[in-house]
Amino acid sequence: MSSEEIEKIISSHADRQGSIIAILETIQNRYRYLPEEALRIVARRTGRSLVDVYGVATFYKAFSLKPRGKHLISACLGTACHVRGGQAIAEEFMQQLQITAGETTPDKEITFETVNCLGACALGPTVVVDGHYYPHVTKSQVREIIADTLEGMEKIAAATNRRIFPIHVACPTCKKSLMDYDQRLDGHPSIKCVVSFNGRKGRLGLSSLYGSRAIASELEIPMNELSRFYCPHCHEELPHYSNCAECGSPMAALYIRAGCAYEVCTSRGCHGHLLNLDQTNMT
Ligand code: FES
Repeated sequence: MSSEEIEKIISSHADRQGSIIAILETIQNRYRYLPEEALRIVARRTGRSLVDVYGVATFYKAFSLKPRGKHLISACLGTACHVRGGQAIAEEFMQQLQITAGETTPDKEITFETVNCLGACALGPTVVVDGHYYPHVTKSQVREIIADTLEGMEKIAAATNRRIFPIHVACPTCKKSLMDYDQRLDGHPSIKCVVSFNGRKGRLGLSSLYGSRAIASELEIPMNELSRFYCPHCHEELPHYSNCAECGSPMAALYIRAGCAYEVCTSRGCHGHLLNLDQTNMT
């Protein structure tokens, strides 16, 4: 770790209020974890107490205080996944990788962890690799998932891989479909909405393949920029019911059906998204 590099990262976020999460995110992206010395520099340079900085670093599960591998595999052991065989899936990963939960393979390629819920309980057992969801995982898929992981998720054709699946969404307010059959992304109809940031507004297409965060935007949205999402029919802003587990930004909610929402992070470049299958606001 280089102190100068950490100083540069902090300076690059100097014009953003409440940027501590963004600073930690950039440091983690650079080093794959948050070195202790980096947290001390962040505290000193931002005028926050070290306890505050540690508080943020330990609150969000996306941050790690221990060095991580190049790729992260998370297997869910929450109740819904556990009753569908999540434990056996986790054990298969540990056996094939020859590590236990929380450890990294000796070649530093893969870190494996177990988590309590990934927000897609109806699709369990669920496994997430570098932000890409695999639903209904079976033991026989584990070898293939590890191979996909080493290959790199971005290199695997989104339209053919079993890790993701198409969803159909509507506006939570007017309930009109947001599917755009003319503009396709990942080989499927895209989700159309209007995006607004810094006083600018434009059309935005999102991939309807769950797990893919491909977008087609009329405007160039700067990385880490927070945007507001609107329905192109009724012009209401898409509601925010939760904050992103990855970066803490508000999530924009899209309607799937009564009680179910698809939520996407409103921060450009963040891959945070989830299926909220128990969203009582979605009636
Ligand atoms: S319990 Fe596994 S995704 Fe919720």
